[in-house]
Amino acid sequence: MLKRFSALVLAGVTAFAMAGCGSGSGGSGGSGDGKIVMGFSQVGAESGWRTANTKSVQESAKAAGIDLKFSDAQQKQENQIKAIRSYIQQKVDVIAFSPVVESGWDTVLQEAKSAKIPVILTDRAVDSKDTSLYRTFLGSDFIEEGKKAGQWLVDQYKDSKDPVNIVQLEGTTGSAPANDRKTGFQQVISADPKFKIIASQSGNFTRAEGKQVMEAFLKSNPKIDVLYSHNDDMALGAIEAIEGAGKVPGKDIKIISVDAVHDGMQALADGKINYIVECSPLLGPQLMDLAKKVVKGEQVPARVVTQETTFTQDQAKQALPSRKY
Ligand code: AHR
Repeated sequence: MLKRFSALVLAGVTAFAMAGCGSGSGGSGGSGDGKIVMGFSQVGAESGWRTANTKSVQESAKAAGIDLKFSDAQQKQENQIKAIRSYIQQKVDVIAFSPVVESGWDTVLQEAKSAKIPVILTDRAVDSKDTSLYRTFLGSDFIEEGKKAGQWLVDQYKDSKDPVNIVQLEGTTGSAPANDRKTGFQQVISADPKFKIIASQSGNFTRAEGKQVMEAFLKSNPKIDVLYSHNDDMALGAIEAIEGAGKVPGKDIKIISVDAVHDGMQALADGKINYIVECSPLLGPQLMDLAKKVVKGEQVPARVVTQETTFTQDQAKQALPSRKY
């Protein structure tokens, strides 16, 4: 009896270590209480956006009566693959994940498909040619976000003939938002040769790396007119670097960012950022609805695009008091 109890404890500890702090009692094909069991592999905790997204997923699972097994991959693809394999072993009802990078998922997704466990992509896409490896993709149109950022810049400088020197803080290398926000922005600004991207480097979506990379940009480029940052956290780090260099963010260097998390919106309202393209992290409720449908075997759209807006400094001042994240 004691031996059996120890084996059970050991199995429980192993499952926890492999798949993070699961809330469910699954592990043998279902929660045992009729609840849907979802295995969710999160990218990490790299930004304010990610924290809000995690909260949205966890709260929505609770509200929807879904038993959530949650794991944080710390921005490492190998950790996500391990977590997904652990969810397959535990025979969860549905797997959802936000892929840290776009490529390299076919093998593990094929394993989920062979085990007949439906997969939902949330927030970020994969570049797999075989779209039967997942049931749906819920998240933003990152190319559109990049285009909105580029369009604001084009409009701002429409009456100027002088060259506009831009530095770009890219998100995590190989990730869908970094690839697509870069592409969308480039597509719009390339219509006018006065816009020049003079330096572009990854700040990995974090405040610390955004600051570090911006410091290097400032050292090697005496004339920077505009910073385009793929998220608010990197822009906030860059603001510290700009102020440290004795310049005024929002004035000496115009800043365009993406996300519209609370701290970014505050910097926008304070005049330190000039424009933010919204990327909503509140994907939880839609994710739980989709999960219920795929588990029941119902048809779901192959792509669900998040509704988003943009913010000027005045709009940020108005929106801040009721901002949820
Ligand atoms: O995938 C969404 C992006 O990931 C957010 O824009 C960024 O802040 C996060 O880290």
